[in-house]
Amino acid sequence: MKHTLLTLAALLCLLPAAADEGMWLPSLISERIDEMRAKGFRLTAEDIYSINRASMKDAVVLFDGGCTGELVSAEGLLLTNHHCGYDAIQRHSTVEHDYLTHGFWARSREEELPNEGLNVRFLVRMEEVTDRLAAGETAEELIRAAEAEGKGYHASVEQMYYGNQQFLFVYRQFDDVRLVAAPPSSIGKFGGDTDNWIWPRHTGDFSVFRIYASKENEPAAYSPENVPFRPEKFFTISTRGVKEGDFTMIYGFPGNTQEYILSDAVRYIAERSDPAKIAIRDGRLEIIRRAQQSDPALRIHYASKQASIANAWKKWQGEVLGITRRGTVASKQAYEEAFDAWAQDKPEYAGVVSALKAEYARIMDPYFAREITAETLYALPARYTDKERAEEAFARSEAAERAQWEYLLGAYARYCPEQYQVPEFLRGVARCGSPEAYAAELFEGVWSGADTTSMASLRGDAKRMLSHVTWLLGTKSLRNLTSSRLNELYTTYIKGLREWDRERAFYPDANLTLRVAYGTIAGYEYADGEYHKPQTTLDGIIAKDDPEIYDYDIPQRLRDLYASKEYGRWGTVIDGRRTVPVCFLASNHTTGGNSGSPVLNADGELVGINFDRTWRSTMSDIAFDPAICRNIAVDIRYVLFVIDRVGEAGYLLDEMKFGRKR
Ligand code: ARG
Ligand code: GLU
Repeated sequence: MKHTLLTLAALLCLLPAAADEGMWLPSLISERIDEMRAKGFRLTAEDIYSINRASMKDAVVLFDGGCTGELVSAEGLLLTNHHCGYDAIQRHSTVEHDYLTHGFWARSREEELPNEGLNVRFLVRMEEVTDRLAAGETAEELIRAAEAEGKGYHASVEQMYYGNQQFLFVYRQFDDVRLVAAPPSSIGKFGGDTDNWIWPRHTGDFSVFRIYASKENEPAAYSPENVPFRPEKFFTISTRGVKEGDFTMIYGFPGNTQEYILSDAVRYIAERSDPAKIAIRDGRLEIIRRAQQSDPALRIHYASKQASIANAWKKWQGEVLGITRRGTVASKQAYEEAFDAWAQDKPEYAGVVSALKAEYARIMDPYFAREITAETLYALPARYTDKERAEEAFARSEAAERAQWEYLLGAYARYCPEQYQVPEFLRGVARCGSPEAYAAELFEGVWSGADTTSMASLRGDAKRMLSHVTWLLGTKSLRNLTSSRLNELYTTYIKGLREWDRERAFYPDANLTLRVAYGTIAGYEYADGEYHKPQTTLDGIIAKDDPEIYDYDIPQRLRDLYASKEYGRWGTVIDGRRTVPVCFLASNHTTGGNSGSPVLNADGELVGINFDRTWRSTMSDIAFDPAICRNIAVDIRYVLFVIDRVGEAGYLLDEMKFGRKR
């Protein structure tokens, strides 16, 4: 009997996990709710999204236009990632008050720091408007009407399935968002670029903010008179922890995926675009790294820029690896060929695959030129603003800035297909003798502020080239198709796919609109015979700790806590050891923009904050492979432990609400 059970269990493990692919529209979540409940979810579709009563969506925000955050108190307290708050933390940091290095803990509401330009948006509602638009209403009319509904309202109409459906999204924006707490970077960015996109992971990637509103609880510009915002809903926190197989759900704002593109586009990304952009960033990062190492003021000055350049640079490498190892080009090709065979006797779809392929062949070169131009010429400033010039570190960055100019113009000459190099550039290079010499001349002018016309004219020329390319392409970006020949073809292609592939669960590509992803806590087979468990602990941090290595040099306080085992209520026995849980792995489908998203358990309680994916699994922007695609979250118990035991800011916990104990 025991034997049979074991065999059955072993068999079940071998079966492919029900795919956890998908980023679902919250207003349509009732279509998925049965499957979610079968996986363990205990709440209803109305609990996730409702326009009649408070629901989870009212506790989720788009943070700073590109990340996600979640409300965790009745007084507007909000959690997101450290890397999402990074810009704000950097802005408040100086060599004397270096919050990036040492962390920041407001000891009272008065000490919470305002952040000009930082805002959050709540989704008020979303609705499909395909029929209304077809009947003659315009998107502008719908947007204008929605924005008149309330203070701070912003609306947009977004395309789903390449325009087969359109949705109106109505948001309420709050502009007074203050920094409450951030751990030292040696916790919040522990592992740095070395560990970024890597599992096993030990990063305490969180920061704490608070939304302020007018006395009427309405959106308001920053004012000392403002009061903490009272949200309709905030998440209860679970300290019960997670274990392999547990249901998880992620609620957030994934930015951009392209799950339905042809093999031609996948090949272009993996063989041409990503490798070129990676190589260009290699050199740029080297220049910045040297500057940061030579001068503490420059370390801060370049912190945020370096992190964002390095982040995509490393992600693209993982994407290429994943696509190559998993044979994505071949599998996409087989898929589109099977569709094409089915389509042969259907006039609407018969020619669409070959037309798409022809269109790709036509636009690949100019599109590549566009990407290279953005990565080089457009990575350089047309001028340095007065605000930048006023910064103490500005003068000290001169050599590193000049080096980047020379390097990037050199890269433009090398990578941009010659027929797309702009005339102004070619003339400059001919006159000065080399791209580097031309760059040095341009730089002198822009740096001193004396000659801003030369650079403006180069950029003007590049801009004309780009609009020529845009005209050739019929679109601004292959990632965000708007109206173009390619988009029209994809509109037809995906309509056909949905008729043909009855087995597949279709969901619209991510486009920075609110989505639900669900899956389970899950490890994965990293390599033959090498299984990666889904949970890391404080013991792993201590094992990596090394005062000689910047990325692994932890605060002394953490070492002391480990030595004395004073974990307080956050100590937990894992695999027979008493420790503190740090990060966990799950099978939710996420992408950039999901950073800071709440990770919720079967009861809708907060168990973690999403912040990353494993390296090769970043291919899930193009094809989700359930065998390897995993998201990475920081365990909420580690967040609470750091707030309580490292920051000694336990008073923040007093305004949070905790679920039932084990
Ligand atoms: N990879 C994560 C994301 O895409 C975290 C990035 C921040 N960390 C860093 N070392 N740059 O945003
Ligand atoms: N760190 C990413 C972000 O900034 C999320 C990780 C991912 O791309 O999955 O949104």
